[in-house]
Amino acid sequence: MSNFFNTGLTQQQFLDEFWQKKPLLIRQAFADFETPISPEELAGLACEPEIESRLIEERGQEGKAWQVSCGPLSDDDFARLPETHWTLLVQDVDKHLPELQYLLDPFRFIPDWRRDDLMISYAPEFGTVGPHTDGYDVFLLQAMGARRWQIGDQPIHEAKLIDGLELQILAEFKPDQSWDLQPGDLLYLPPNFAHHGVALNDCMTFSVGFRAATQVEVLDAVVNNLLEQQLGKVRYSDSNLLLSAHGSEVDEHAVERLKKMLHQAIDNAEPILTQTLGKVATETKPSLLSLASEYMTGAISKEELERLFSQGEELHRNHYLRFAWSENNGCGQLYMAGQAYEVDKQAVGYLTLFAEQTTLTPKDWKQIKLSESAVNLLSKLIEEGGWFWQDT
Ligand code: SIN
Ligand code: CO
Repeated sequence: MSNFFNTGLTQQQFLDEFWQKKPLLIRQAFADFETPISPEELAGLACEPEIESRLIEERGQEGKAWQVSCGPLSDDDFARLPETHWTLLVQDVDKHLPELQYLLDPFRFIPDWRRDDLMISYAPEFGTVGPHTDGYDVFLLQAMGARRWQIGDQPIHEAKLIDGLELQILAEFKPDQSWDLQPGDLLYLPPNFAHHGVALNDCMTFSVGFRAATQVEVLDAVVNNLLEQQLGKVRYSDSNLLLSAHGSEVDEHAVERLKKMLHQAIDNAEPILTQTLGKVATETKPSLLSLASEYMTGAISKEELERLFSQGEELHRNHYLRFAWSENNGCGQLYMAGQAYEVDKQAVGYLTLFAEQTTLTPKDWKQIKLSESAVNLLSKLIEEGGWFWQDT
């Protein structure tokens, strides 16, 4: 699908002109949209102990008084809520209800590993989380009722926030645009654009959020990989040392040498950078770790795989885990949950099967079993919980 939501833009034109650059409102991107999940079902998810959720209430002096309660929520929490001015937010609904993953399909022209989750909010009239910025790209799909979105048309890099709140709410917000979104309308916002959405009536908003590692997260992963590979051992050197009037000063020349040393360390790490990125991009969020690990099983032999597939069994991909792959000089790496798995030339062609398909059928097995290396990788992935039989 290269036409971007029937806008007349190709997906590449959207990437060139809007992605990470400017907001875009698309009316009826999902024509005649009806929410596949009710507010009651969403409230049910927020009562589950392992599901990340928040209830945000706006009370008291306008724009100043906000209450945040983190889930799990209880029936009593819902019973005491007023008629208006609150929002319920539930994270990772795409993983908890994998039957909703079809909603993410139109966004899969952006790499899967850039996507974070589908967050769903419900709010009665006047419900809002306040004007704020997010560090991530987000597509906001109006799923039920109407919401007024006001946005700024320039990114804010150092946002001034209201002090003393558990929420990050902008101290000042002057909107440049205002739109009322109806079911099926979609608003794309790049990182750091101020936005303020207020429910006009009983309203559900689906947020498809993206994620990107910070410099510190990537540097930490690079250092860990360098340590694992026993690299990065070149020491600070100063063969161009100049006489100095002071014996203890760390002078600007020393800082210049340090900068060179750090650049050189990154250049020397080039062969492991792809692997580092693959690991960082597929790390499992701490809030999903225990649910993700429920699918781990014992080791499985090729004979056992053959037996189960020949009985018509299918494997399913663990929707709590993130997958990616890379290829270098004909050899491949599969990344899953922050781990890298090497495969030889023979098995490179199978990486998309393991990282992108959601099921593996007996027909896929006929292909997989032709490569010893692909079979070994699959049995490792099953052991680690990346793929599972329906009834495990
Ligand atoms: C909401 O759904 O109320 C908030 C979504 C967002 O601002 O990212
Ligand atoms: Co936001």
